[in-house]
Amino acid sequence: MTYALIIAFDGPAASGKGTLASVIAQDYDLPMLDTGLIYRAVGFLRAQRGLTLEDVEQLVEIARTLDTQTLDNPELRGREAGEWASQVAALPEVREALKRFQIDFAHQPGGAVLDGRDIGTVIAPDAPVKIFVTARAEVRAHRRWLQLVKSNPDLAYEDVLADIRLRDERDSSRSSAPLSMADDAVLLDTTDLGIEAAIEHARRIVRDRRGSF
Ligand code: DC
Repeated sequence: MTYALIIAFDGPAASGKGTLASVIAQDYDLPMLDTGLIYRAVGFLRAQRGLTLEDVEQLVEIARTLDTQTLDNPELRGREAGEWASQVAALPEVREALKRFQIDFAHQPGGAVLDGRDIGTVIAPDAPVKIFVTARAEVRAHRRWLQLVKSNPDLAYEDVLADIRLRDERDSSRSSAPLSMADDAVLLDTTDLGIEAAIEHARRIVRDRRGSF
């Protein structure tokens, strides 16, 4: 039996999983889905429409009818959108409404690369390659701060670190599909790795895993 090459990258905010997922997707010429962007889009629309987290029915409708062609909006990558995403992502009804699209994307015939929090555990537990990317919170906050300060020069590192800690806590403690490492995932800790070294590690993990099934 041949398996589609599904490659799952999970991990906390700013761990580098998105960068690694893009490189691997290019290496293997696979389509890629940054699932964080989907939650960011729902969180963004919630804020834009003045809805609260209690407006579950309307949030589900936003999730169900989300136009995934609009995920390249740069506003989705900002700091606020990350916080809003984490809030709506804690609602099981919203997660459920976004599930089918992600499952179908992962299981398209040629294979796919996805990055998120629950790809290896919920969306594609059958993925032959699962990498859990992490790094110490201070290191992740510093990387994220370097990105964000370009467009927001007054941004304080301490505030980014506080955001990251809050999101780690919320994403890990929610009852529905919390951030957790799949039993068969390989851990990649990028705390002491530069980007090139992290890419090399990820490439080796993918090669080793592909070879073993
Ligand atoms: O990866 P990111 O920072 O863009 O994700 C934004 C938020 O979306 C994150 O704090 C938690 C949520 N998320 C999720 O719950 N499940 C996913 N598969 C991806 C993101």
